Amino acid sequence: TPRIFSGIQPSGNLTLGNYLGALKRFAQKQDEGIETIYCLVDLHAVTVWQDPEALKKQTREAAAAFIASGIDPARSVLFNQSQVSAHAELGWLLNCVARMGWMNRMTQWKDKAGKNAEKQSLGLFAYPSLMAADILLYHATMVPVGEDQKQHVELCRDIAAKFNHDYGVDFFPAPLPLIEGVATRVMSLRDGSKKMSKSDPSDASRINLTDDADTIAKKFRKAVTDPEPLPDSLEGLEGRAEARNLVNIYAALADKTPAEVIADYAGQGFGVFKPALADLAVSKLEPISTEMSRLMNDPAEIDRILGKGADKADAIAQPILQKTLEIMGMIRSR
Ligand code: TYM
Repeated sequence: TPRIFSGIQPSGNLTLGNYLGALKRFAQKQDEGIETIYCLVDLHAVTVWQDPEALKKQTREAAAAFIASGIDPARSVLFNQSQVSAHAELGWLLNCVARMGWMNRMTQWKDKAGKNAEKQSLGLFAYPSLMAADILLYHATMVPVGEDQKQHVELCRDIAAKFNHDYGVDFFPAPLPLIEGVATRVMSLRDGSKKMSKSDPSDASRINLTDDADTIAKKFRKAVTDPEPLPDSLEGLEGRAEARNLVNIYAALADKTPAEVIADYAGQGFGVFKPALADLAVSKLEPISTEMSRLMNDPAEIDRILGKGADKADAIAQPILQKTLEIMGMIRSR
């Protein structure tokens, strides 16, 4: 049976990239009637130091972003990872299945650690193994993610296969990464070769879900582009990464194809296209940020929702964790 699992790190402001690449699609999957489990991965967030008070606030804010984007806690399981201790437990077991060499090959590790691997936390190195545990703990079959997480989901498939092989079982299904739509890699507004990221030092490089209308308009107005008008066909966007990115963002927000957007704006300059894009973005994002701030007025209610979600998640995860321990030869006598 199909079951979807995905997660987001509550490690800062969520961006338009997180919305188009993840949240919006998470809500669509829920509305298609598939079983959906969504997780705020606080255990992943602390692989780099987080201020404790800020982490709590960011976790609640991310929960509010899910709900404001259409995730209904009654129809999806929505919780924070650390409240279901089975994640950490299966994470450990999978650390003993996965190989150091596999982790070493992860591009995200190589990017983040750079030449400073010695100074990184052990957790940051093992990060993809915990991510595999998140997914396998629910026997999830599909994992909607942006392009940048594809390698991690493929690693999860390898870990599942190695576990099954090492113990001679057919226990963990191999999950499929779902990377769909035109906004699976939203790029920085300052540099069309870098992805839009909540950890980019330049705030102008991204649209935050909490930005107000003026800020959104200003960031799009200042977005780096070439001086040419928009072409009259998609081929004309080749080699124009920044223009391509803005067209993709427009298409994803408007639920159109990039070809339709190009047809509408062929020959127009960015002086026309950018304000149109800003208006569209504000019309889609303002209701979300308004709902987020409304929800943030009642943090206790958010915590209650996450607690109930964690109970539901735990009910699915515990039997799978117990079975894993049994397969590996751990005595269960209480
Ligand atoms: P994170 O928190 O970096 O990002 C959350 C989701 O947003 C997507 N995303 C983007 N999509 C398009 N364009 C962008 N610029 C962009 N930036 C981010 C990410 O691909 C992701 O889908 N390791 C994960 C969290 C995680 C997880 C999991 C995901 C932990 N356990 C299990 C799936 C399944 C991460 O750091 O995502």
